[in-house]
Amino acid sequence: MHSNYLIIDAGDFLRRGGKSMAIDGEFILRGFSKIGYDAINIGENDLSLGYNYLIDLQRKFEIPFISANLYRRDKNEALFQPYTIKDLLGLRVAIFGVLRNDPTILRSCENDQELYIIDPVIASKKIVKDLSDRCDLIIALTNLGYENSMEFVKQVDGIDLLISSHNAFREKQAIKINETIIAQSKYQGQNIGDLLLYLDKNNDINNFEDLSRPLNETIIDDPKFNDLLSEYRQKIASENKNDNNRNTSAPPVTKSIGYYVGSKTCQACHAEQYLHWTKTKHATAFDSISSGNDIKDRECYPCHTTGFLTSNGFRNLQTTPDMIQVQCEECHGTRFTHVRIHTFTSEKTRSAKASLQQLDNQNDTINAATCTRCHTEERDRDFDYQTALKQVSH
Ligand code: HEC
Ligand code: HEC
Ligand code: HEC
Ligand code: HEC
Repeated sequence: MHSNYLIIDAGDFLRRGGKSMAIDGEFILRGFSKIGYDAINIGENDLSLGYNYLIDLQRKFEIPFISANLYRRDKNEALFQPYTIKDLLGLRVAIFGVLRNDPTILRSCENDQELYIIDPVIASKKIVKDLSDRCDLIIALTNLGYENSMEFVKQVDGIDLLISSHNAFREKQAIKINETIIAQSKYQGQNIGDLLLYLDKNNDINNFEDLSRPLNETIIDDPKFNDLLSEYRQKIASENKNDNNRNTSAPPVTKSIGYYVGSKTCQACHAEQYLHWTKTKHATAFDSISSGNDIKDRECYPCHTTGFLTSNGFRNLQTTPDMIQVQCEECHGTRFTHVRIHTFTSEKTRSAKASLQQLDNQNDTINAATCTRCHTEERDRDFDYQTALKQVSH
C-alpha cells in the first residue's frame, strides 16, 4: 500500500541548552520514532551536543537523519545520508536537507575539528541534478532561517517544495515562488505544519493548502505519549535529586565562589599538603584516562580533571593543561578568594578582607558528599568514606 503522507522535520529538534538537553533529545527522538518520521534534517542546534550524540541516538532509535552539506573529514563524505527517497502514492519523492555553512556552528559542537560544512547552494545544486531524473518530486529542508531560504531558492532550480527551519519564531503561510512552494512551521513543535498538495495527472503539483495549526489543547493527547511524558518528568526529577546527591557526571564543587586557581598556587603556602597530595592517586588521575583522544576522554573529564567546564576549570589539554588531575579545589572548593585574602597585606584592605573572608568561609567543610560526586556507586561501589578519608587527609 502506498502512503499518502510524509512526516518530516526540517531541522533543530534540539534546543541549545548544553548538557541538560541530552535527556530531552533522547525523549524527543523516542517520540519521533513512535510517530515514524520519514526524514529529519540536521539543524545547527542539533549539533550542540556533538555529533557522536546524534549518531548514538540514530542507532538506538533508527532515526532517518539527513544532511547534504555536513561532512566528516576523515572519510570526506556526508556524515548522515544526504537525502532519502520515499514513496508517496506511487511517486518517488526525494527529500534532502542542508544547514548554514557558518563555521561558528561547529564551534559549539564538541568534536568540531572532525566535521566541515559545505556551501548549501553548491551541495543542493549537485543533489538536485542527481535526483531530478530519478524522482518525481524534490523536497528541500533548509535549516537556513526564512530569509536565507528565500535567497537560497532563487539560486537552486528544480525544487518542488522547500520547508525552512531555524529561528522560526513565526510561522509563515506557504507561498509559491516560481516553481517552488515555500513553507515554514513554528519552532519547537509549537505548530503542526500540515501542507496538503494537489497533483495533476502528470504528477505535477497544481495546488496546495497550508493547514498548519497550533499544537494546543484542541488536539487530543495520545495516551502513548502521556506515558512517555510522565517517564520524562520522572527522569528529570531523579536527575535533579542526583545532582544534590550522587551523580555520574560530577557537578561542580558545591559552592562555587570565585574561580579555580590550581594546585601550583596552593603549593606556595601549603607545601606540606601539596607534597602529600602528589603521593595520592588524585594527583595522577588524568594519566589513567588520557588516551590522547579528546572526544573519547570527554566522558571521563568530570571526575579525572578539576572544574571541568566551569570558569577557569579544565576544558581541554590545549587551553587548560594546568587543570588536569583531581586537584586541591575539587575537595576544598574554589579558592581564588582565599588566595586573595592571604596575599593582602595593607591595613587599608582590612574591610575588603573581612568581606572576602565571609565568602571564603562559605567553602563547605569536607564530608562524604564531597567525595561521592566522583566516587559514585557506579564507579566505586565499595567506597567507604572513613577508610578513604584517611588516605587523603594531610
Ligand atoms: C598566599 C598564601 C595562601 C595560598 C596561595 C593558599 N592558602 Fe590556604 N591558607 C593560607 C593560610 C595563611 C591559611 C590558614 C589561616 C586561615 O585559615 O585563615 C590557609 C588555610 C587553608 C585551609 C584550611 C582552612 C580553610 O579555609 O578551610 C585550606 C583547606 C586551604 N588553605 C586550602 C588552600 C587551597 C586549596 C589553596 C590553593 C587553591 C590555598 N589554600 C592557597 C594561605 C594560603
Ligand atoms: C573530582 C572527582 C573526585 C573527588 C571529588 C574525589 N575523588 Fe577520590 N578519586 C578520584 C579518581 C578519578 C580516582 C582514581 C585516580 C586514578 O587512579 O587514576 C580517585 C582515587 C581515590 C583514592 C585512591 C583509591 C585507590 O584505589 O587507591 C582514594 C582513597 C580516594 N580517591 C578518596 C577520596 C576521598 C576521601 C574524597 C573526598 C574527600 C575523594 N576521593 C574525592 C576522583 C575524585
Ligand atoms: C563519575 C566519576 C568518574 C567518571 C565519569 C570516570 N571515572 Fe574513572 N574513576 C573514578 C573514581 C572515583 C575512581 C577511583 C575508583 C577506585 O578507587 O576504585 C576511578 C578510577 C579509574 C581508573 C583507575 C583504575 C581502576 O579501575 O581502579 C581508571 C583507569 C579510570 N578510572 C578510567 C576512567 C575512564 C577511561 C573514564 C571515562 C571513560 C572514567 N574513568 C570516567 C571516577 C570516575
Ligand atoms: C581528596 C580530597 C582532597 C584533596 C584533593 C586535597 N585535600 Fe586538603 N584536605 C583534605 C581533607 C580530608 C583534609 C582534612 C581536614 C578537613 O576535613 O578539612 C584536608 C586538609 C587540608 C588543609 C588544612 C590542614 C589543617 O591543618 O587544617 C589544607 C591547608 C589543605 N588540605 C590543602 C590542600 C592542598 C593545597 C591540596 C592540593 C595540593 C589539597 N589540600 C588537596 C582533602 C583533600
